[in-house]
Amino acid sequence: MTPPSLAIHSPDLFAKATSPPWKELLIEKQDRLWETVRNAGEQPRTHLSSRATYVVDDAIAWLAELPMNSLHAVVTDPPYGLIEYNRKHHDKLKSGRGGVWRIPPSFDGAKRRPLPRFTVLTSDEIVKLDRFFCDLGEALLRVLVPGGHLLIASNPLLSTLTFHALQRSGFEKRGEIIRLVQTLRGGDRPKGAEDEFPEVCMMARSCWEPWGIFRKPFAGTAAENLRLWGTGGLRRISAAEPFKDVISCSPTRGREREIAPHPSLKPQRFMRQVVRAALPLGVGIVYDPFAGSGSTLAAAAAIDYTAIGTDRDQGYHALARAAFGPLCALSVGEP
Ligand SMILES: C[S@@+](CC[C@H](N)C(=O)[O-])C[C@H]1O[C@@H](n2cnc3c(N)ncnc32)[C@H](O)[C@@H]1O
Repeated sequence: MTPPSLAIHSPDLFAKATSPPWKELLIEKQDRLWETVRNAGEQPRTHLSSRATYVVDDAIAWLAELPMNSLHAVVTDPPYGLIEYNRKHHDKLKSGRGGVWRIPPSFDGAKRRPLPRFTVLTSDEIVKLDRFFCDLGEALLRVLVPGGHLLIASNPLLSTLTFHALQRSGFEKRGEIIRLVQTLRGGDRPKGAEDEFPEVCMMARSCWEPWGIFRKPFAGTAAENLRLWGTGGLRRISAAEPFKDVISCSPTRGREREIAPHPSLKPQRFMRQVVRAALPLGVGIVYDPFAGSGSTLAAAAAIDYTAIGTDRDQGYHALARAAFGPLCALSVGEP
């Protein structure tokens, strides 16, 4: 299906947008785009609020329904192992049998949550992962406006592969955010020989999470692009303080996890900071292709942004419907 073209491309709007008051014009364009974007495609959806929508669909299939240049930023935590979230292994996880999901050792008697495995991939899996991120990159580039940012979660084992695939699809790499977070990944002694090798760990205990910062290329100056599309840069924390690329934020725990029991839930405290940075002027539409519990949508709503997400899992759609309000209302304290 060929997506409909939008009046946003008309020379008239271009002329107006390059002169003040550009901000009002950007808001007008955003509102018009939002009506198109939130209703795109035929798949079931929930309008969680007037400015947040969750669509049950495959990300790449849904992106094909959108007009070019209709989203302003993407913030997402993709399925890295690919097979963890396929139907067979995901059903095993839901039935409590784990499948490829790693159940961390219960060394202190406390029951631990299953984790994605993130272990060594076969060469066939590497090729599939590379293809997936190239396809995703190409699909996102078409719908992002020039200068639109993609902020994407990764892990130290796979970030080089996936970031390179995104660059090959046409994105510019603009840096990385390092989330300082101590997880249960790594640090284990050799399996089955723990007592024999008490001083060995097979991998470093992971204490950080990389997030790639990518941008769709644009022509002209940064100021022209900001006026015309509202994108190209990152939002400062304040006039005196730029956005910074190291953010300390512990794993999602307690009440937040009870509200949104998704196996890969990202914390609101962190998500609100990165979602905020993704729109330099605070105007535009943020998209999460792999919305899960809706944590990106809730973070966007909490800071008064407009956002849409897709996830192909009906169960997570139901979870997000219930979790959206309570996640938005969570107080996360100062960053
Ligand atoms: C790592 S999780 C994201 C969870 C999210 N960070 C949260 O806080 O809830 C990835 C999500 O992508 C979904 N998913 C996997 N493949 C997909 C696809 N092709 N299209 C849309 N969603 C997909 C899975 O169902 C899963 O919920």
